[in-house]
Amino acid sequence: MQTVSDAFDAAYWRARYAIPGRAGWDAGRVTPPLRAYFDQLPVAQQPRILIPGAGRAHEAEYLHRLGYRHVVVADLAPEPLAELAARVPDFPKENLWLTDFFALPPSEPFDLIIEQTFFCAIAPSRRPAYARQCARLLRPGGRLVGLLFDTPFAGASEPPFGGTRDEYRAYFAPYFEFIHFNTAYNSLAPRTGRELFICLQKKSTD
Ligand SMILES: C[S@@+](CC[C@H](N)C(=O)[O-])C[C@H]1O[C@@H](n2cnc3c(N)ncnc32)[C@H](O)[C@@H]1O
Repeated sequence: MQTVSDAFDAAYWRARYAIPGRAGWDAGRVTPPLRAYFDQLPVAQQPRILIPGAGRAHEAEYLHRLGYRHVVVADLAPEPLAELAARVPDFPKENLWLTDFFALPPSEPFDLIIEQTFFCAIAPSRRPAYARQCARLLRPGGRLVGLLFDTPFAGASEPPFGGTRDEYRAYFAPYFEFIHFNTAYNSLAPRTGRELFICLQKKSTD
């Protein structure tokens, strides 16, 4: 695990959004693995979905257009949330949460948490807390689904931070059953072979 500062705060992220070319993580659309996952979900069940570190939240836009009405996006930076609101004017304003994911209280539990380049954006020292917080916010049987880089970004001193599947397993194993934890077959071209698609189910007791 890299030794880096924990100080990737709202000011850090706002600056990255403000400087052209410093938001290279943004695919500009829902990524193919998540699009394929969303397309086979049963919309009629209207699950409560959280997208932490959502940024411009193309996943939330896609889910909203599919008819999902209980999608919450959380981010430290106001600018990307405002961009989502401008792109999708009928996205519920009360579901745009300008907040620290790690400070979210476990109030109404979520059925699903979506991961898309948020885990790689936090300091590696916070990864155990990420796994714990996801478990805390999900109902028993709820799922954490998304993508994790499966490659070390050697020497990185700021996000994105990489890692390996063996490292990640240790964080999630205390709270989750591993339904799927394999190299994604349909990644964006620059990420091909370098990311895991994960589907983790919260254990009944944590
Ligand atoms: C690498 S970006 C990914 C954004 C988006 N998921 C995407 O793929 O385009 C990481 C995002 O996480 C947000 N973020 C970082 N730390 C956070 C925290 N503790 N709580 C909530 N959001 C956070 C940043 O503001 C930024 O928008």
